[in-house]
Amino acid sequence: MSTTTPPAKPTVRDLYDAMSYGPAPEGDAPVREWIARHHGRFGHYINGAWVTGSEHVEVLEPATGKPLAAMAQGTAADVDAAVAAARAALPAWQALDDHARARWLYAIARGVQKHARAFSVLETLDNGKPIRETRDIDIPLVARHFYHHAGWAQLLSSEFPGYHAYGVVGQVIPWNFPLLMLAWKVAPALAAGNTVVLKPAEYTPLTAIRFAELLHDIGLPKGVFNLVTGDGSTGAALVQHEDVDKIAFTGSTEVGRAIRVATAGTGKGLSLELGGKSPFIVFEDADLDSVVEGVVDAIWFNQGQVCCAGSRLLVQEGVADALYAKLRERMERLRVGSPLDKSVDMGAIVAPVQLDRIRQLCQQGIDEGASCWQPTWAQPTDGWFHPPTLFTNVAPSATIAQVEIFGPVLVSMTFRTPEEAVALANNTPFGLAASVWSENINLALDIAPKLRCGVVWVNSTNLFDASVGFGGYRESGFGREGGREGMWEYLKPARAHEAAPLPVIDATLPGAPDAREDAPDMPAIDRTAKMFIGGKQARPDSGYSMTVRALDGRVVGEVGEGSRKDIRNAVEAAHAASGWAKMSGHQRAQILYYLAENLSARSEEFAARIVSMTGDEIGAGHSEVDATISRLFTYAAWADKHDGAVHDVPLRGVALAMHEPIGVVGVACPDPYPLLGLVSLIAPLIATGNRVVAIPSVRFPLSGTDLYSVLETSDVPAGVINIVTGPRESLVSTLSQHDDVDAVWYFGTQAGAVTVEKASAANLKRTWTEWTGREWLDPRVGEGREFLRKAVQVKNIWIPYGE
Ligand code: NAI
Repeated sequence: MSTTTPPAKPTVRDLYDAMSYGPAPEGDAPVREWIARHHGRFGHYINGAWVTGSEHVEVLEPATGKPLAAMAQGTAADVDAAVAAARAALPAWQALDDHARARWLYAIARGVQKHARAFSVLETLDNGKPIRETRDIDIPLVARHFYHHAGWAQLLSSEFPGYHAYGVVGQVIPWNFPLLMLAWKVAPALAAGNTVVLKPAEYTPLTAIRFAELLHDIGLPKGVFNLVTGDGSTGAALVQHEDVDKIAFTGSTEVGRAIRVATAGTGKGLSLELGGKSPFIVFEDADLDSVVEGVVDAIWFNQGQVCCAGSRLLVQEGVADALYAKLRERMERLRVGSPLDKSVDMGAIVAPVQLDRIRQLCQQGIDEGASCWQPTWAQPTDGWFHPPTLFTNVAPSATIAQVEIFGPVLVSMTFRTPEEAVALANNTPFGLAASVWSENINLALDIAPKLRCGVVWVNSTNLFDASVGFGGYRESGFGREGGREGMWEYLKPARAHEAAPLPVIDATLPGAPDAREDAPDMPAIDRTAKMFIGGKQARPDSGYSMTVRALDGRVVGEVGEGSRKDIRNAVEAAHAASGWAKMSGHQRAQILYYLAENLSARSEEFAARIVSMTGDEIGAGHSEVDATISRLFTYAAWADKHDGAVHDVPLRGVALAMHEPIGVVGVACPDPYPLLGLVSLIAPLIATGNRVVAIPSVRFPLSGTDLYSVLETSDVPAGVINIVTGPRESLVSTLSQHDDVDAVWYFGTQAGAVTVEKASAANLKRTWTEWTGREWLDPRVGEGREFLRKAVQVKNIWIPYGE
């Protein structure tokens, strides 16, 4: 008989040094029972009832790769039925008073809270993300979102007077935050009085299905919320449906572009929340230990499948090696494993196709010469896992530095100066978020406005709240979700529901060829108006001129026929005038007042010109000029008043909602009111710091060209206002295709709106198109906040307080 010594009991010291975790699995039995109760097969939720789909597709569990359930693949007929139900439910839903709608949203929030654990476990099973995140972040934020929007429902009439819900809203969401993205979309839509058809992502439909059950249980009126599951083809059917009034989408930039094209010129509202390649900027005075924890939250939260993930680590050269060493040490201690284990840091990747994409991009990074580092530990082999990965020695132009990897892969580059940091940070077509780390608050707050993105976190990352708008600049999409900013996305001016089509003035109307103003004794001194580009009058590049005729056909002048080249020159000049955006509102106001003053001095001449073209009686010309002067005063008044907000966030700190100019904006003016129409569009844009390239009324351009000398004498810096005359439709098409134009405002025909919005998809420029009538003389519709809101984009800068 041999004697064995029992193993020595570990000391506290041993345990401390090892710090190994035991498994801490969350029970999933109740949720699996719920799935089993439905025999693992789910249908659509349409008009308050469950509809069995014609075809079903398996939903897999990322942590095991095994089937979890089956969802119905929605067809065009299912989408039709859901849209019809939403349409039918609309009148009664809108007839409710604010308080009644608030009560429904409140009931939803309570319901989510009551079933919070079930939602968390279901989300973890379906998506593969750690229970720690679904339990502590996703689901609490879902409840918070419905509470916050119960508040907006209650305040709707008092806070948004004159505005009205769009109607039926189609919403398409991704798989990375399935229930949270649902909440971000459904809560504001319902609060504003819309009815909804939602399509969740094909990989992760289950929490949306459970949510529909919740709404059924609380008795939400049928048809107010409808759910159709399925893949991209179901989403496309919803986007293209003629009876949908607005589309809200979150997902890839590629699909966002397709949706922009599909909805072009339909008049549907559109908000797009797309991809990103967000910079995480570390200055050498940053607290590196905090930075390391920030990086963990930035890129390993949700396995890096986060649109605003801090996926590009930009480090000031002097601290790069020290930071990489700390990061590697931390990465060695991250835990990847069963997402139901309460102590894992990272769970599984949502689907094999995503895992393959991540692996391929990592391989490409290595092939292009970057250094790849991964922890030494092994990860689970069942299911779809990817280790945290750090790339260093990455060239700014490398594929992995440019494309969205959407996985736990951090790509690092170094910089020397703050200017270089900003240049690197902005070196991407995206513009979703950024994180800035420095103990010097002056430096951090100097950098934040220079970053072209919709959210900046100072010494923090991935902070979200229902009271703060979230959304991108540039190719990260447009529109905001959350807070007052987000509510606007689901509302439109009540008058837009009744607006009549604009009286069509035929731009090509030849008139009577021989009619003249008078018969001259000798030829007049030629006064063909030129273009106004970069503060100078410039001849059209084409060398062609166009005859301008009055409404009755008389020849009243000539203007240059602008071409692509003129537009390109004007855009270049507008870019060069970027200093305008940095001027104070007060300074911009002074210039707008000066413009008004100089116009006023020549009001007789401008009134006569309007009359000579449009043939109106003299009174009409005067009232248009007077209204134009008043409009300039309005925007001079607004220039230092259209300020942002300080959001009340649930942490020690603030989020500053800054109104920033969009950049270079192309403007195609309506034909009626040749002077007032032009000024009504360019004044709000320049008051807020944009630069414009405007195409004046094509039929009556002379009020626009007369303005050159007023601009020249009013201290408007060169390039801030550029005017190109000529054929509106082809000029605006060039503007819409131009990658250096950030937005286009188009007031013309529906056919023109189709062209503008289709072309805008290339760089996802913001568009405002209108082909219905607007009474420009009436200040209630011709000026004000509606214009100012479209002239700016909101950047939210989060500034936590304290150590
Ligand atoms: P995706 O953009 O294809 O899918 C998002 C949603 O759009 C899903 O519900 C999908 O069914 C739907 N959809 C797809 N095609 C559609 C169409 N033509 N019309 C209407 N709806 C359509 O994204 P996917 O393929 O799941 O992921 C691919 C890449 O997209 C990821 O690797 C990542 O880079 C990016 N992505 C970005 C997200 C973000 O939050 N910004 C979310 C998901 C993906």
